[in-house]
This record gives sequence, C-alpha cells and structure tokens, in this order.
Amino acid sequence: MSFKDKNILLGVCGSIAAYKIASLIRLLVKAEAQVQVVMTPDATQFITPLTLSTLSKNPVLVDYYNTKTGEWNNHVHLALKADIMLIAPVSANTLAKFANGLCDNLLTACYLSAKCPVYLAPAMDLDMWKHPATTGNITTLESYGNIVIPPGNGELASGLVGDGRLAEPEDIFAFLVQSLKDTRPLSGKKALVTAGPTYEAIDPVRFIGNHSSGKMGYALANRLANLGATVTLISGPTHLQAPSGMTLINVQSAQEMFNACEQYFHEADIMVMSAAVADYTPKEVASQKIKKTREDFNIPLQKTVDILSTLGQQKTRKQTLVGFALETNDELKNAREKLTRKNADFIVLNSMQDKGAGFGTDTNKVTVIQKNGEPVSFGLKSKDEVAKDICDLIIQHQQQLSL
Ligand code: CTP
Repeated sequence: MSFKDKNILLGVCGSIAAYKIASLIRLLVKAEAQVQVVMTPDATQFITPLTLSTLSKNPVLVDYYNTKTGEWNNHVHLALKADIMLIAPVSANTLAKFANGLCDNLLTACYLSAKCPVYLAPAMDLDMWKHPATTGNITTLESYGNIVIPPGNGELASGLVGDGRLAEPEDIFAFLVQSLKDTRPLSGKKALVTAGPTYEAIDPVRFIGNHSSGKMGYALANRLANLGATVTLISGPTHLQAPSGMTLINVQSAQEMFNACEQYFHEADIMVMSAAVADYTPKEVASQKIKKTREDFNIPLQKTVDILSTLGQQKTRKQTLVGFALETNDELKNAREKLTRKNADFIVLNSMQDKGAGFGTDTNKVTVIQKNGEPVSFGLKSKDEVAKDICDLIIQHQQQLSL
C-alpha cells in the first residue's frame, strides 16, 4: 500500500495528546500523502495551527469560514475529496458528537459528510475511556463502519495509569498501512489475457477471420482486474469498449498476438488464452488487391504459431496457464488431450452442442478440465459469471503454487 497522493483529512481535537500529531503528520507527508488538517477550536489551545500547517504544507482549517478573507471552508468538498479521514486525537466530547450526529464545528460537519473510511484514534483519561457513555459511543461508531485505533496503556496526563493514551504516531501510521493493504486474492499478481479473433491478411482488403466477439476474454480480464491483478489484455479486432483499469494492446494477426504475448508472459503469474487464434495464415500477403481473373482460386496457407502451446513449453511452475477449446465431437477426450499436448493447467471446454454457448452470445456453458483434478461442469450462465467460476479455480491454483 502506498500513501502516495492519497488525500488524508486529519481531524485534531482538544487533548494534551495533540502535540503528538506533529510527528504523525511528518510520517504521512514523508510517505507522500496529501494531508489536510482540520482542528476543533479547543485543539488550537494545545498545539498551534502554524505548527501543523507548516508540517502538512497546507493551511490548517478551524472555522466554517476564514474571518479575514470571508472564504467558506466547504466541509462537503473537504470530506468528499478525502480518501481517508483520521481523527487523532479524538476526544470523548467529539466521539459523543460523532455518535449522535451533532455538527457544531467544521470537524464534526466534515465527519457527517465523509464517505471514505474513517479512523478514530481516541485519547482521554482512564475513567472517561471506561465510562459506559464512551464505550456505548464507540460501539455506535463501529456500527457505522468507523475503525477505532485502540488507545495505548500507560501513564496518563492526569498521573493515573491505564488505558486512554493516544496510540503512538508510529503505531497509528502502521495501523493505517496495515488496514489499507490490498487484501484482494490476486493483489500483486500479473495476468495476461488474450481475447477476440485474429485477422490473417490475404491482400490489403481481405482477411481470414472468425466470429469470436471477444466477450469471454474481456469478461475474464475485467474479473481478474477486480480481483486485484494487474492485467494486460491482448485483443484481436472486436467491437467491445476498451476496458478501464488495465493495459490494452490491440493486435490483428496471430503473429502479432504471439509477439505481444512473448513480451509480457515472462512476468505474468496468470495467462488466460481465450482468443480464437487462426490456425492457418496465408503463406504470402498480396501487395495489391487480388483480381477475379481465374475460375477457381486457392490460397496457400501455413500454420500459425500456437501461442498456448509455446507458452506451455516455456512456463515456470509459478505460472497458471489457461487455454480454451471449442469442440464438436469427443469433447472431453479432445480437451484432455489438448491440456496435455499444450501443457496447460486448465482447458475451458465450450461445447458447440449447447444452446446459448459459444461465439457472440452473452452466455456460456463450460466444463473446466484440470491438470490435477476432475473436470468441473458449470451450468449456462452469463459470461461474467463464467469468468467468476474460472477465476475461482485460478485463485485456488495460484494459492497451491505458493504453498
Ligand atoms: N491457440 C493459440 N494459438 C493458436 C491456436 C490456438 O494460442 N495458433 C489457443 C487458443 O487461444 C485456445 C486454444 O489454443 O486457448 C484453442 O486451441 P484450438 O485451436 O482449439 O486447438 P488446436 O490445438 O488448434 O486443435 P484443433 O484446432 O485441432 O482442435
């Protein structure tokens, strides 16, 4: 997790522990976060706005409006801009206001407007912390989804010893780092997906292609990205909208698709070859449009490079390789042979015999043949749901590989 360019709205309440916030701001700024401090009026008695604005490199806001310029400090804008809202220290008084929806200063107004995760780092005396009113407020705030950074135990400003000390700045920082970590199952993994048909040029205006829409491959690329993977999608010509949140590489021919795969596959953890790659390509591409001068006409073809098979030969044991098969007869037998021949970990078998499955449709019905396990058959589903089923198997495989 990186704080780089994260907007942190940091609320500071009236508590002797407010002095510790100077160190916390330094840690956040050093981690390249953008810190906007909002103080309650009482907090300014404990540490000066000048100190916190100097450290945060931003003006500190206390009131709804700037008395000198008349400018309004828009609490809705401040709250919505924030990726994280942290209130540290949060006093017993402000906790009570948050829990009850009171809104009598800029900080409480920001809290009510915030849609981002809210972290609360309380600081107060031992008995205030233990009071049922406070524990009740904490329960209420947790039920709102707020996250409490537990106070530490030790000597308090009153001289009493117990719970209630503001967590140390380093601990607050570490808590944020830990809870902002991307815990999605494929976070940190790289995935390479091929999709769509390939077009094999015959002459400048004609090609050999197929009816693949690319929908299954795009659904898989989207699902992998949503699961946290960094996705490179290598797509043949389709009418689909370029997906966001991934790298899209557009190609035409099987050779171009292979070249792009060669470039990215070494660093990929997951490779899903869902493209309907042409098996043959014209031996020569005519430089001019071919005229219809002859009664019959043959185009000499040669085999294309088998991308799935080539990656299967080169793959390491940390990589998951998924291929597809479209069969019309002896489906399971052919798909099993394909799995072995191409050294894939999974072959997703589409049957041409199933209504609603295959090219161009929004639904699909697949059976997944596994290298280490029994075939798994799924019912007729949307391609997004099929992508989910396939990705669940990929996650399991990746987890087994990392054991
Ligand atoms: N594939 C590939 N490169 C090719 C041809 C196919 O990577 N030149 C991949 C497809 O993306 C798909 C799988 O191989 O994952 C489909 O294989 P298919 O074309 O059905 O298998 P073949 O081995 O060519 O067998 P056949 O055509 O005889 O069924």
